[in-house]
Amino acid sequence: MSQISEQLDRRRTFAIISHPDAGKTTLTEKLLLFGGAIHVAGAVKSNKIKKTATSDWMEIEKQRGISVATSVMGFEYGNYKVNILDTPGHQDFAEDTYRTLTAVDSVIIVVDVAKGVEQQTRRLMEVCRMRNTPVIIFVNKLDREGRDPFDILDELESELKISVRPLSWPINIGAKFKGVYNIFERSLDLFTPSKTQVTERVEIENVNDRRIDEAVGEKDAEKLRADLELIDGVYPEFDTNQYLKGKLAPVFFGSALNTFGVKELLDCFVKIAPSPRPVEAVERRVNPEEEAFSGFVFKIHANMDPNHRSCIAFVKVCSGKFERNANYKHMRSGKMMRFAAPTAFMAQKKNIVDEAFPGDIVGLPDTGNFKIGDTLTDGEILHYKGLPSFSPEMFKYIENTDPLKSKQLDKGLQQLMDEGVAQLFVNQFNGRKIVGTVGQLQFEVIQYRLLHEYGASVRWEPMSMYKACWVDSDDSQALEAFKKRKYQFMAVDREGRDVFMADSNYVLQMAQSDFPKIRFHFSSEF
Ligand code: G4P
Repeated sequence: MSQISEQLDRRRTFAIISHPDAGKTTLTEKLLLFGGAIHVAGAVKSNKIKKTATSDWMEIEKQRGISVATSVMGFEYGNYKVNILDTPGHQDFAEDTYRTLTAVDSVIIVVDVAKGVEQQTRRLMEVCRMRNTPVIIFVNKLDREGRDPFDILDELESELKISVRPLSWPINIGAKFKGVYNIFERSLDLFTPSKTQVTERVEIENVNDRRIDEAVGEKDAEKLRADLELIDGVYPEFDTNQYLKGKLAPVFFGSALNTFGVKELLDCFVKIAPSPRPVEAVERRVNPEEEAFSGFVFKIHANMDPNHRSCIAFVKVCSGKFERNANYKHMRSGKMMRFAAPTAFMAQKKNIVDEAFPGDIVGLPDTGNFKIGDTLTDGEILHYKGLPSFSPEMFKYIENTDPLKSKQLDKGLQQLMDEGVAQLFVNQFNGRKIVGTVGQLQFEVIQYRLLHEYGASVRWEPMSMYKACWVDSDDSQALEAFKKRKYQFMAVDREGRDVFMADSNYVLQMAQSDFPKIRFHFSSEF
């Protein structure tokens, strides 16, 4: 087996996603504890900016430092190399999360047992579905009162539109929570509230083993047997292939805060989760085993120091071996580049790395050469398919308030859009620039960074707008006719693509029914 195949077989690159407060940070921390990457609970603050009020941008600025450190967390677990890609908790940064999902091979979704499937989870799952990303679900906070586990399974299925299969099953919840039966490994884990301890495990032969009765009492043991019978009757057998196709999600129950059910999750995860998969480029499909290096930029992290406009571009290695000081081709500019100090995070420490393999993320110091979605190769002409942009939902006109600084403004705006902070459109009717975002915070981020990093001051002007969507058609005359009729509402994005800016849901629906030959896209990946 080649070195590359060997390395990639043992790699597991994934993200944990959830609605804020479901327990993503806590679960991440516990996984890092098992991986020996940290030694005390409370070491991961992650991107906990979600708790700050939306107007508290300075607080977020402070925390951006933390989020660089937690962008990628790598650790060794048994024979596996696990890479967790962090996703921002704050929903205004959902776009960042969408992009991170393009760089992972699978995800773990955390759901709060009392709250069930919440809005953010639903949206993120849509992105996973678009790419058939395999998902494992962890139902968290079983130590608290919550909903009936069968109800939760029903809701997961209907809300996330995926078949589910429990691989562990709780014995009661809340104050009466006694533990989980691990269906995957046929063992019984007894619950003792603890922040760091590993669970007590009862070895059993099968579900009829009397040791279950001794451990949890006869009544709960009978209920468990009945539940398991029902599960076998209702849910399909767990089939790894269905999971790998993104059609079936195994479900685990536990309590991240109490480190309960987490090891079972991790043990199953490393066994079944996919190693790096082939990636589609415009030219061809690229296999990770290929000898030649290739990768793409999925995230750019700007430096907090306004005096140095340097950033870190995060590159996901898609094929071959990445090597320090080797010459790689930056596809968009055609330039050859060498990286003397590529970094990776292992066990919470940022280290310079000499090599990286498919599934790994390397951080490349950059001074504005990279743009989100850029491809790097060792010479072959390859363009990884663009990262999706989603229809923004908030819009403002951006106005320059210092005409002497219009050059700085243009440069700053360009760089921020390259980083993927927001999307820029130009209205074709009046030529005004419109910034579209998924959250209010981005406007503050942009205004603040333009001023502090580029010396350009801007003002926002409100506009009432419902949604921007990309339009195209096989019939060029129909498209022209549409653009003519809607000329006041037509804009172009930075790639010159036509965008229809609907000012209400009604207008959008009318346009869709009046112009059947026009396709309306809500993500730029079409
Ligand atoms: P997030 O990243 O998904 O937003 O969630 P996070 O891990 O920050 O968890 C949100 C809250 O839920 C935290 O409490 C955390 O301690 C709690 N929590 C996580 N897992 C469990 C669990 O298994 N059981 C119980 N009972 N609680 C859990 P907090 O008070 O909001 O934050 P903190 O002050 O403890 O950090």
